[in-house]
Amino acid sequence: MERTFLMVKPDGVQRGLIGEIVGRFEKKGFKLVAGKLVTVSKEQAKAHYAEHEGKPFFDSLITFITSGPVFAMVWEGDDIIELSRMVIGKTKVTEALPGTIRGDYAAHTPFNLIHGSDSPESAEREIANFFDESELVLYAKSIATWV
Ligand code: PPS
Repeated sequence: MERTFLMVKPDGVQRGLIGEIVGRFEKKGFKLVAGKLVTVSKEQAKAHYAEHEGKPFFDSLITFITSGPVFAMVWEGDDIIELSRMVIGKTKVTEALPGTIRGDYAAHTPFNLIHGSDSPESAEREIANFFDESELVLYAKSIATWV
């Protein structure tokens, strides 16, 4: 079982899409283990996007992600990092296919609604940047008990 960090960005919160986005992952069959609204500090944002420091879009990315509350989440599931990024869709809205969250709801590239970890190492670091271990709720959620 793998964990990932997913975050509804300020545009998704402002547009009232938290429920829609959470629902996509619930219906896919993943398990929510933590979720909260967060006003991201500059330091927290810079730590989250540290790998992009020095890139031309870095400052605007930090400004955007600290512009309003985000909905930070931890989800669990088999291969969830790869699968959740398929549910999210491509970064550029012109490449995000219909049926994906970005393909269905995002029309301007920086405002692409949601962040998802891209590797197990990133997931671990990003989860630790937003959540204490005590905030992760452990409970049973069966996938195929009838078999
Ligand atoms: S890279 O260089 O290919 O690794 O970058 P990319 O994966 O395309 O984007 C990394 C994250 O930066 C966001 N991004 C931007 N934000 C604001 N303004 C601009 N111009 C911009 N360009 C890229 C992009 O949405 C990615 O965010 P996350 O949260 O990781 O999806």
